[in-house]
Amino acid sequence: MANKNHGFFSHQTLEKNIGWMIIASILVVSFAGLVQIIPLFFQHSTTQPVAGVEPYSPLRLMGRDVYIREGCVGCHSQQVRVLAAEVQRYGSYSVAAESVFDHPFLWGSKRTGPDLARVGERNSDDWHRRHLRNPRDVVPESNMPAYPWLQKTVITGQNVEQRMRALRTLGVPYTDEEIAAAPKAIEGKTEEDALVEYLQGLGVGVRKAQLAKQAAEAKKAEEAKTSQQSSAQPAAQAASGG
Ligand code: HEC
Repeated sequence: MANKNHGFFSHQTLEKNIGWMIIASILVVSFAGLVQIIPLFFQHSTTQPVAGVEPYSPLRLMGRDVYIREGCVGCHSQQVRVLAAEVQRYGSYSVAAESVFDHPFLWGSKRTGPDLARVGERNSDDWHRRHLRNPRDVVPESNMPAYPWLQKTVITGQNVEQRMRALRTLGVPYTDEEIAAAPKAIEGKTEEDALVEYLQGLGVGVRKAQLAKQAAEAKKAEEAKTSQQSSAQPAAQAASGG
């Protein structure tokens, strides 16, 4: 009945009181959000690196920082979407576990230029250097800015060890020896060297691991086929003989 007394925990209390309605909505939406988000912190597909993904070498790490500083992410994404056109153009689509060592990740959302998630080893180092110094030299219609100063700044003496230690606190498994050896690894290198090294590694490990897996599977299928044939032959002979 319409004018029946109702308790405090009823729909009517909520529907007639906007304050409670807002609080209850926030509670429901937060809970639903947490149900979706919390498992991601424990799921293997988001916390364990996929085959082929390894922590950045010191030089690549410095290059990544140049990439962040210069705002490359403002024009370039690093996420191949699950669309046929993208997979055909760039290569296999990106998965979350490729970014477990990226703090912060650089997926980006703007593509003035092409996606870079699979750009590694597609062009020569020399091409990248010329392109970074003046993109118009290699791609006449390019509107990418030039970064000629990168070839002049030496990165020796920058705090690569601190950066690696900071990343270790976030779960990147650098060993003490790797950290101690890092300054030597970047000695005398320029920001351009580091950036090119970074770009040349994008997507390469994953691609190689995928190719190796495909090759292993093809070999296994081939072996299964030949062993099936050899076991089928005597049976066929027996059948025709009988
Ligand atoms: C204003 C937007 C813009 C910014 C900022 C920018 N780029 Fe580009 N980039 C482009 C465009 C457009 C292209 C395509 C034309 C070309 O190849 O130059 C491109 C192409 C590239 C390519 C070639 C990709 C391929 O598949 O051929 C690489 C590598 C690249 N950029 C790296 C970088 C890096 C590294 C930075 C930061 C230092 C950067 N870009 C900053 C717009 C940008």
